[in-house]
Amino acid sequence: MDSVFKNSPLNSIPPEGISTEWRSPSNIALVKYWGKFAGQIPANPSVSLTLTHSHTTTRLSILPASRGGMQLHFKYDGKEKPDFSQRIETTLNQWAGYFPFIMNSIISVDTHNSFPHSAGIASSASAMSALALCLMDIESQLGLELRKDDFLRKASFIARLGSGSAARSVFPYASIWGYSKDIPDSSDEFGIEVPKVHSDFKQYMDTILLVDPGEKTVSSSAGHALMPQHPFASERYKQAEMHSRQILNALESGDIDTFVAITETEALTLHALMMSSNPGYILLKGNTLEIIHRIRQFREQSGIKACFTLDAGPNVHLLYPWEVKDSVMEFINRELRGFCEGGRIMVDQVGSGPEKI
Ligand code: DP6
Repeated sequence: MDSVFKNSPLNSIPPEGISTEWRSPSNIALVKYWGKFAGQIPANPSVSLTLTHSHTTTRLSILPASRGGMQLHFKYDGKEKPDFSQRIETTLNQWAGYFPFIMNSIISVDTHNSFPHSAGIASSASAMSALALCLMDIESQLGLELRKDDFLRKASFIARLGSGSAARSVFPYASIWGYSKDIPDSSDEFGIEVPKVHSDFKQYMDTILLVDPGEKTVSSSAGHALMPQHPFASERYKQAEMHSRQILNALESGDIDTFVAITETEALTLHALMMSSNPGYILLKGNTLEIIHRIRQFREQSGIKACFTLDAGPNVHLLYPWEVKDSVMEFINRELRGFCEGGRIMVDQVGSGPEKI
């Protein structure tokens, strides 16, 4: 497997250049990646569902440059964005070790998100996976042939170097990233597709309740950095490994009760870890807690197995089976929308992964 990550001698970029365009979705973690080591190595395995409508579309064009080095022209929604451009440039320079054609080239990147930046949706996951897939595609247009499995694993490996959670965005339905001796083929270096997903979970719904779509006060990267010295770190890493095994079984068998129990515990654990870090911090808002209470009450009273998860922010992801979507939407409109900023929600669903456009 390792050999597919190494760069192989390739043709150089033709004078007329090469272009490609990919759309890649965000993903929502059920078992959270929280804590990492040097080289973007996760402290524990994580498991996610791949989304559909929250995605990034990236067009990449590459031309040979007459002088050495890489020149980047980056646009977000057709406009220059120096802060994003800087991160993309750093990432591309890092990826040049795997894609030598990046050096001595002029690269134009045009990118668009289907959702507002910082809407509580992991924009780095969709953005970095879309960019990684563009470069994988350029590499294949230059003549490197990989089997589909190897293509996706290498795309995941490359995406991971840009943002950890991006490693899980290139696969259909559900993905695991991070090594566990009990999970065959699992790796810290790249994600894999969850091999068996029950049909109920292949069309699961995720409605994102936008409590506060503003910029996060503490970034995920800053949060990860507090984990190595966290007093609960080693127990947390063991718990995440156990939860990963359990949720993989639940995803395979269609066991929604176990899915609900683990997903909610993981969400609350993530925020408990933030609160008990040094320094501790709170990203939850009053409305986040109000929504959580109401979701639990709704589940108890209606018997509908809707549950919540949270990213590193105040917005709530409400997960529920496709079959009950009408009843859940009524519940959202009746009880939850009032706690969302401007009544804003985003309806998403599990999906089949990235697409070349
Ligand atoms: C809470 O992938 O955004 O969403 O690797 O530093 O880019 P970097 O972090 P990032 O962390 C995501 C954290 C999380 C949980 C998860 O998606 O597993």
